[in-house]
Amino acid sequence: MPRPERHVFICTQNRPQSHPRGSCGAHNSAEVMNEFMNEIQRRNLFDKIMLTNTGCIGPCLLGPNVLVYPEGVLYSKVTKTDVKTIIEQHLIDGEPVTDLMAPKEVW
Ligand code: FES
Repeated sequence: MPRPERHVFICTQNRPQSHPRGSCGAHNSAEVMNEFMNEIQRRNLFDKIMLTNTGCIGPCLLGPNVLVYPEGVLYSKVTKTDVKTIIEQHLIDGEPVTDLMAPKEVW
């Protein structure tokens, strides 16, 4: 297996709706994960970009959260429609999407 250029961690942690920390799962992170899978597959990028669904990575109330390495860029409140932008601008062209990044006080 070739070493990927970028590794994308998508938080799919679930908690009960009434939990004080909230969760990415309660904010449709599964839909975001599926969109990443579909778009990476459609573009045949699996040898360059690795996707991993993960548990909690920190700022739960800002979910869905998506963390991209090697840059260590955290995207928050990611929607299905943001996925295409993240893939094209960051994962392919190498320019992080500043408008979608988590606030500096968070990450
Ligand atoms: S539940 Fe996703 S960051 Fe905590």
